[in-house]
Amino acid sequence: MPQFHRHAVLIVAGVLASCTAAPAEEGLACTPTEADAMGPFYVSDTPIVDDLNRHGKSGDPLILSGRILSAEGDNRPIANARIEIWQTDGNGDYHPDNNGAYGDYADEAIDLRGTVLSDEDGQYAVKTLVPGAYFPRPRHFHYRITAPAHAPLVTQLYITGDGVLSQPGGDCRHAALETTTEGLLYEAPDIFLVKR
Ligand SMILES: [Fe+2]
Repeated sequence: MPQFHRHAVLIVAGVLASCTAAPAEEGLACTPTEADAMGPFYVSDTPIVDDLNRHGKSGDPLILSGRILSAEGDNRPIANARIEIWQTDGNGDYHPDNNGAYGDYADEAIDLRGTVLSDEDGQYAVKTLVPGAYFPRPRHFHYRITAPAHAPLVTQLYITGDGVLSQPGGDCRHAALETTTEGLLYEAPDIFLVKR
């Protein structure tokens, strides 16, 4: 039985049946979280969502959950972190296949993108799709995280076992997809932010 983040049950109401917060010690070897390229497809100011797949793109439904923690001292949870996530649909396409700001586009053009907030335990969860790969990149989730008293972080998280495509970040920034009775789950590696 995989361990679910407690907050996932609150945000993805009724989708997950049970949960247990993982101990912070699990991520200590991977702190602080390494930065990764922003890439050419960042769109700023995306709305807060509980489902990144805002307009029903095709792909395998997925629940994405994780935690935002401080890289300092006791690795305390960071509440109210703004977690901007963007990714491809199941076919490996971004929407839009471009960058800019949310206001530059019609709402219908913005998909598989959004902002999620962490709760008092540093936890977040959002519905989405399994991202498709686009050569030569392995499947990945783009993250930009901003939080009170901490330095902003731009990074990427990967899915374990993506063939021969290289996965930056070693063991610290990838996790396996888990098949649960409620569907596919990606329990993201903990993200540790450096204080300003
Ligand atoms: Fe990308």
